Amino acid sequence: MDRIRAGFVAAARVIRRLSQSGLDESRGCLPRVVLMPVLSSRAARRRAPCSFPRYALPVTDEPLYLDHHATTPVDPRVLDAMLPFFRQHFGNASSRSHGFGAKARAAVEAARASVAAAIGARSGDLIFTSGATESDDLAIAGRLARAGVRDGLVVAATEHSAVHAPAERFAREGGRLHVAAVDATGRVDLAALEAALDERTALVSVALCQSEVGAIQDLAEVVRLARAVGAHVHCDAAQGVGYVPFDVEALGVDLVSLSSHKIYGPKGVGALWVRRGVALEPRVLGGGQEKGLRSGTLNVPGIVGFGVAATIQATEGANEGARLRTMRDRLWQHLASLEAVHLHGPALDGPRHPGNLHVGVEGLDGEGLLLALAPRFALSSGSACASERRAPSRALTAMGVPKDRATLRFGLGRETPADRIDEIGAHVVEVVGRLRASSPAWRLRGETLDW
Ligand SMILES: Cc1ncc(COP(=O)(O)O)c(C=O)c1O
Repeated sequence: MDRIRAGFVAAARVIRRLSQSGLDESRGCLPRVVLMPVLSSRAARRRAPCSFPRYALPVTDEPLYLDHHATTPVDPRVLDAMLPFFRQHFGNASSRSHGFGAKARAAVEAARASVAAAIGARSGDLIFTSGATESDDLAIAGRLARAGVRDGLVVAATEHSAVHAPAERFAREGGRLHVAAVDATGRVDLAALEAALDERTALVSVALCQSEVGAIQDLAEVVRLARAVGAHVHCDAAQGVGYVPFDVEALGVDLVSLSSHKIYGPKGVGALWVRRGVALEPRVLGGGQEKGLRSGTLNVPGIVGFGVAATIQATEGANEGARLRTMRDRLWQHLASLEAVHLHGPALDGPRHPGNLHVGVEGLDGEGLLLALAPRFALSSGSACASERRAPSRALTAMGVPKDRATLRFGLGRETPADRIDEIGAHVVEVVGRLRASSPAWRLRGETLDW
């Protein structure tokens, strides 16, 4: 018993130390969720007097969340629909011999129909995965493995790393990869794309909506060009579904990746829609679930949540998009009052995600600016995946954005309060002004140094 208690005390000590270092500036991290102590012994209680419930994960303070491209909170209606599938309806959707399995299977099929309907597809052609990353991998590697003599892959330079990574592996294994240039707004250069296509091209992969600057691609034209050489088209539609008209039949795409957590559903669930007749080599083998294309026990609560999230997004996305656009445009009015601040991506009234505002700020360090804003606003400089690597954004580089600009990506979403937009704008303007006032680089800008 004593050893168990000693173990708890030691664990509490470590956790407490972690909780006290909520802002680790030496590593340049933003304040994150802080794990509070789990206390069971009197000794531990003495060391860390606190009244937090067990395993509570409170945040240090409550910055306003403005990073909806990274992920979205689960809509309460989605959560309500999911909960029974953790509790009473916990069956395995593959169990055929009892009602638990049947209940789970029925819920999965209802969700499949909802997700498919959101993109104008037949539900039988949609398989569930763990997210858009897995869907992209299956679409690209799975399709290329079955492409026969065709050995060409073309991807846009602004694609997410979930597309670039399997594309680069394909190139390492001897495939012909062409990365198509984009214009300064992040939209694929159609002339460059056309020039990259030939009769050996098997697949073209272009996202619906770019995750950093919100550029919405001209998919109809991409499909037209790809079709002309007999290539298939994969579209990573993790971002933008519901805000932008997207219908697989109207567009003529062949493979579509979706992600639940970008549309107020749970994380760890996604889908790949596969046009009938387009053959794929499975990546995950096992029990043969999802028509043998993606083995593994189905995440029933997650899938149920994804289904509800897709229906809500399809029903409410257009109105919500208009609300986001109004807020986003007002926010830009504030930021545009600053000197040497640039809008990255398409024009605000152009082909752009309605909740996206990506700005470049001259004369400041990007990490420093994010850290200064972090106590009040949770936002990022670009894709969450890229920021883990802290490498310059591939997409911004391809767009020709100078590397020395600090960048901020605002991703407005469903719970962003319209009445706080002026406060956000004014605070960013104030912080940028303050940081610039103390920045020698900013004060000396434009001056030619006489070495
Ligand atoms: C365009 C795009 N594709 C793929 C992903 C990865 O999606 P998931 O987190 O569902 O694997 C993301 C998420 O950041 C994304 O924005």
